[in-house]
Amino acid sequence: MTDEIINLTAFDGAALDRAFATLEHQARTAAASLSTEADVEAFRLQWLGRKQGRLNDVSSRWLKSAPPEAKKALGLRFNALKVVVEGLLDSATGAGPTDAALAAEAIDITLPGTRRLTGAEHPITKTLNELSGIFAALGYSIGVGPEVETDFYNFESMNFPPGHPARDTQDTLVVANQERRPLRDRLLLRTHTSPVQMRTMESQPPPVRIVIPGKVHRNDAQDATHSPIFHQVEGLCVDKNITFSDLKGTLDHAMKALFGSSVKTRFFPSFFPFTEPSADVQISCIFCGGKGCRKCKHSGWIELLGCGMVDPAVFAFAAEKQPGYDPKKISGFAFGMGVERIAMMKYGISEIGSLYAGDMRFLGQFA
Ligand code: DAH
Repeated sequence: MTDEIINLTAFDGAALDRAFATLEHQARTAAASLSTEADVEAFRLQWLGRKQGRLNDVSSRWLKSAPPEAKKALGLRFNALKVVVEGLLDSATGAGPTDAALAAEAIDITLPGTRRLTGAEHPITKTLNELSGIFAALGYSIGVGPEVETDFYNFESMNFPPGHPARDTQDTLVVANQERRPLRDRLLLRTHTSPVQMRTMESQPPPVRIVIPGKVHRNDAQDATHSPIFHQVEGLCVDKNITFSDLKGTLDHAMKALFGSSVKTRFFPSFFPFTEPSADVQISCIFCGGKGCRKCKHSGWIELLGCGMVDPAVFAFAAEKQPGYDPKKISGFAFGMGVERIAMMKYGISEIGSLYAGDMRFLGQFA
């Protein structure tokens, strides 16, 4: 059976039939006596092996020496034989693996599985998304703007004129070597998300309802509750006849959606250059329900965000590009809040640094 493949001398149809019939017979006989896996593997190597297999020999001896007119007939028979041999091998293999082989491959279902860590939103992202979602449900869209901002958008257009003392409360890093540029074009790391109010108004006429989540930078020393880089969510609503009541109703709803329906809000006069009047919003303490505790410094209230009616001076800057922002025809409100502070309250985090340390023992708790 291991006979070497002899050279073919005749290439007519009958001679080819005979030669291939002999080979097929040999293959069938050999396949009939296969019993072990080793037998099957030996059969595979002997007939189909890439280097020394018999079919390989047939191909190199017969096909290559055949006269051109016989090549097609020979090739057809060769392919048919190959199909037969492969079929024989398949049925020998299909006879099934031995018990030992089965046992070696068996799965032990009592072994513990591979535990994959589930990804989870970072508490800051989670809070940003939650806030965006609350306002999206009120018909607000989401906006973004650059973190490296010009003096004009960050300060001047928000009604902090050059030299205005309110600028001192928002010191930040400035990009170096810009002395030759006019002040309004100089670049700095934005100190709040408010400049995106102006970018939004310049790019679309009223009405506007937009929330702007984003990262901001300030020259603030790090302590348990402050970080020089943090996040804000800004809001802007401009339309005909927008009133302070709309502002109160919107923020009261947002705080209830965020902290639970029993939370109350109250508004205190405050100052921001870009709103008039301006207010600070306090919510009833979510830790003690308003009775007074250490967290609310025994006042029952926690200050959470700034807001106000958009100052006409801000609309005047917007109207340079979009005349629709005429303060005689439209009005609006704006608000801004710190995301870390809200996340820390919601999730009971006492150190702002935990939010940035990347410690898996901390982050894993949000999975
Ligand atoms: N931009 C203010 C800040 O960073 C927050 C703020 C207050 C935003 C009042 C507003 C607003 O839009 O109306 O301190």
